[in-house]
Amino acid sequence: ELRRIPHPPYRLPVLGDALGTNLRTPVQESLRLGRRLGPIFRRKAFTKEIVFVGGAGLAAELADESRFAKHVGVGVANLRPVAGDGLFTAYNHEPNWQLAHDVLAPGFSREAMAGYHPLMLDVAERLMDHWDRAGAAGETVDVPGDMTKLTLETIARTGFGHDFGSFERSRPHPFVEAMVGTLTYAQRRNVVPDPLVPLLLRGASRHNRADMAYLDETVDALVRARRSSGGTGNRGGTGVRDHGAGSGDLLDRMLETSHPRTGERLSAENVRRQVITFLVAGHETTSGALSFALHYLARYPDLAARARAEVDRVWGDTVRPGYEQVARLRYVRRVLDEALRLWPTAPAFSREARADTVLGGVHPMRRGAWALVLTMMLHRDPEVWGADADRFDPDRFDAAAVRSRAPHTFKPFGTGARACIGRQFALHEATLVLGLLLRRYELSPEPGYRLRVAERLTLMPEGLRLNVERRVGVA
Ligand code: HEM
Repeated sequence: ELRRIPHPPYRLPVLGDALGTNLRTPVQESLRLGRRLGPIFRRKAFTKEIVFVGGAGLAAELADESRFAKHVGVGVANLRPVAGDGLFTAYNHEPNWQLAHDVLAPGFSREAMAGYHPLMLDVAERLMDHWDRAGAAGETVDVPGDMTKLTLETIARTGFGHDFGSFERSRPHPFVEAMVGTLTYAQRRNVVPDPLVPLLLRGASRHNRADMAYLDETVDALVRARRSSGGTGNRGGTGVRDHGAGSGDLLDRMLETSHPRTGERLSAENVRRQVITFLVAGHETTSGALSFALHYLARYPDLAARARAEVDRVWGDTVRPGYEQVARLRYVRRVLDEALRLWPTAPAFSREARADTVLGGVHPMRRGAWALVLTMMLHRDPEVWGADADRFDPDRFDAAAVRSRAPHTFKPFGTGARACIGRQFALHEATLVLGLLLRRYELSPEPGYRLRVAERLTLMPEGLRLNVERRVGVA
């Protein structure tokens, strides 16, 4: 029932609102539109009509798990050919979701995280070697490129005992190029209906098939190597780890752990889907979050100084900070939260009605009807965040401010049973890395840089380069 929901004023037969749809930045365009049309609005491209929710009140309703659940829709559904019934793309009713969730959740426990910590530090040190050389040579660094190397190596090594050698390459790893290819293609498929694909996306579809094949091959090789070595990842210098409940990394869990109650295991095909899921979901959004945070730290030296003072105070002379020392970086964490508020790198998620219901008391929804929560708009709702909602201010996340805010107003990791399983992983990794970088470098922007944000389902600052200068007298 869409009658009461506003849409853009000019609608064409067949094309709908497709004209004026900027294929490259649909999320930012929807935000601009939402500011004119209000907390709920709809857009139509060809035959597909999407309802967007960006107001805090309606978004909080959609977060009610008794009435709504995840919907595998815009963006997510287009990734089914790549990620199948892996955790991120599984339908709620698919038995493999619960199975994989239960088998893999212990891989994100506190003990597991503490086990990954030394490997996260190793990877961060590789990044700093690279930045030291650039800084000494007076060269700027490619922030999104380097953050992607860092986060890909981190998930690959901690989760799969695999080394992509990203820092030994000048170009992105082909895995990353294939991944960006499939994400970009999935984004374009949001507005192009099936019958028009041969016409509009023929070359792109061919390319996408090659990208998917490459992802599959990479993953199959990785799994083969593990199977032939008989399990327990993370050889290669750091020794065998024990993550408390059972040993080994995510890949060991996928291959060897059976469900605690049913005794069931993941099938070979499902393992393949999970490995791709985790390699992609486990690095792309964290890379963006780190990049946005670094952009703001370079842009606002007073905020950087405050964060740096905290790192110096909490870490002292410890060269390799311990797991516990990361959670104590409260202000650094606020910088990260504030970056994820303005630019939630997974910028939307969908919710469907579990039964016939009425949204906001006025919009009837049939069972299965769904809406897209535009996180980026929710995070800038002036009723929650004030008239200066577009301004970067980490103090919005100090303890008192957080307590005084309504629930479900900050949702960078989604909501409910299908919220992000890697949330703690991402926050720990990103806080650690920001702490290390703040402690070691003064960051400054290139003169004249203005933030531009690229979209490939996820958000990423475009062309962001920084000057990094070693601080004097620090480790
Ligand atoms: C789900 C965001 C990092 C793995 C999600 C969802 C969001 C999200 C919004 C829910 C999507 C939906 O409702 O359709 C983010 C952000 C991250 C991040 C912003 C970084 C800043 C990670 C990491 C991992 C990961 C590091 C793995 C190591 C997953 C998986 C799911 C998921 C497997 C699907 C969970 C399920 O449905 O059971 N993430 N994520 N994410 N994320 Fe993340």
